[in-house]
Amino acid sequence: MKDMLKAPFLTEMIRTQTNMYAHGWDERNGGNISLLLDEKEAAEYVNVNKVIRAIPTGFSQPELNGKYFLVTGTGKYFKNAQYTPETDLGLIRLADGGQTAELLWGFEDGGRFTSELPAHMMSHAARLKVCPENRVVLHCHPTNILAMTFVHTLDEREFTRTLWRMCTECIMVFPDGVNVLPWMLCGTNEIGAATAEKMKTARIVVWAQHGIYGAGRDLDEAFGLIETVEKAAEVYLKIAHLPRLNTLTDEQLKIMEKGYGVKAREGYLD
Ligand code: 13P
Ligand code: ZN
Repeated sequence: MKDMLKAPFLTEMIRTQTNMYAHGWDERNGGNISLLLDEKEAAEYVNVNKVIRAIPTGFSQPELNGKYFLVTGTGKYFKNAQYTPETDLGLIRLADGGQTAELLWGFEDGGRFTSELPAHMMSHAARLKVCPENRVVLHCHPTNILAMTFVHTLDEREFTRTLWRMCTECIMVFPDGVNVLPWMLCGTNEIGAATAEKMKTARIVVWAQHGIYGAGRDLDEAFGLIETVEKAAEVYLKIAHLPRLNTLTDEQLKIMEKGYGVKAREGYLD
């Protein structure tokens, strides 16, 4: 058995968490990540026949039965993951149709997976149907996108169009746009199901007055998506109160669409 602390996927997870903390997106225990692993990949580092603890999840997700995930722990600080990965992270396998998480490594202080596991698992199931290579669901609290949900309409088309216009490469990075959930109580199956529904049509879901979810094929892709959306929100907040002398037009967005070879979300350009 190889040393889990040297697993490339664990190293990449910790690097991502450390970087997210450095960006100011994960104050205190804010944020959570789940990374889907192949059984073969997991079996190099853990004994898949030795379940340390079986933890009820409180939801079912039969499509993900038997799947392995590296997940962040509830109440754990992203800034500390690099020092105490074996308590702050856990490797779980879903069983009983998703109703049980079998702990195979980590959470050594008796801790458990993030309170947002429903949103993560339901979003994985939704994204895998659209993109079978999807591996990551990532949640955090970036300042500008969060601030934007207080002063901008939450209409998804309008929200997306505002962000696309803030930087010439936005439409290339997220042509599928940004979906927005109105405020809901977090950590529940209800917000999980609502998030997964939104994940059917976009890889970014903004939680009004809370934060953002991003999905991707790897940690870099999910991180980069959120980074781009957050940068656009920052530009918006810098200019929202100033007279607008120039803007990006729909005509220019269409030129970018062609130039970048992407397809903007249907009906989102005039
Ligand atoms: P957890 O500590 O349970 O992951 O919760 C953090 C968070 O951001 C809730 O939305
Ligand atoms: Zn949160």
